[in-house]
Amino acid sequence: MPQTRSTTASSSDRLSAPAVPVTVSEVQPTVHNNKEVLEYWNRANVESMYDKHLLKSEIDLIRRHIPDGAKVLDAGCGEGEGTCVYCQIPGATVQGVDFSGTRLAKAAERLGKRDNVTLKKVDFLGCYDLDRDYNAIVSQRFLINLVEWRLQQKVLSDLASRLTKGGKLILLEGSQQGVDELNHLRVLLGLEPLPVKWHNLFFSDQALVEHLTSQGLALEAHDGLGAFFVLTRGIRPALDSSLNWDSPFNLKAANPELADLLGLGPRFSRLKLWVFRR
Ligand SMILES: C[S@@+](CC[C@H](N)C(=O)[O-])C[C@H]1O[C@@H](n2cnc3c(N)ncnc32)[C@H](O)[C@@H]1O
Repeated sequence: MPQTRSTTASSSDRLSAPAVPVTVSEVQPTVHNNKEVLEYWNRANVESMYDKHLLKSEIDLIRRHIPDGAKVLDAGCGEGEGTCVYCQIPGATVQGVDFSGTRLAKAAERLGKRDNVTLKKVDFLGCYDLDRDYNAIVSQRFLINLVEWRLQQKVLSDLASRLTKGGKLILLEGSQQGVDELNHLRVLLGLEPLPVKWHNLFFSDQALVEHLTSQGLALEAHDGLGAFFVLTRGIRPALDSSLNWDSPFNLKAANPELADLLGLGPRFSRLKLWVFRR
């Protein structure tokens, strides 16, 4: 049965946890229902990310870690917005895979005819056949769609095993610590906490790193979009109730120079980048 997840303060985690209780109100399942999630992603009017400045910033972070000439697996590629950028890396070949026919059709339309990209229907919770020699595997907000940690672990292990020696697992995924930190800030500014969507389970940073290091991978980079989240989900909504992702303010907030200047990286970042090397 669906349950309400809630987050409360923990004295041992003062940096990332709120000092006041932060109840997340969206009703979330604790048992993964793959059919329901697939139905959601098969709806033609759903977009993988409505905030296009955020999406572009995510892709820019990921892009920096894919070397020229890489054979790339874009796992849960969705509409192919990232795939489209990764296939422009010199010498790269990209396989975009997703379980939703609707997403793959949108990706095919976006990508047009390209010699170095293939799209394939794959359900990571079913049986599938993929290569075992990728130089880079990207999961951009895909794994959070598996709402049980044991399923996330299973797919993480499988992805890790499909890398060449020295290959990179590049995750741009939801972080529960990032959610808590940002919600703490929001509560202090008089705003409601932001919930995690019903079909998502965000990662515990520590559990994620422990799981992948136990599979023999090493954490090579850790980053985030803290400045963007603080500015667009903290400061702006505290001052302006009319929120639209494509405002001039949000465009300025996505400037990487601003991110460098503020230096927040993964702090306050609901979505974080982790790069693991096999
Ligand atoms: C939030 S979207 C992200 C899409 C894309 N990576 C992006 O960042 O724009 C999540 C994607 O994961 C896909 N997905 C969810 N569960 C999946 C599964 N079990 N197997 C394959 N793809 C899955 C969905 O169809 C959807 O396209």
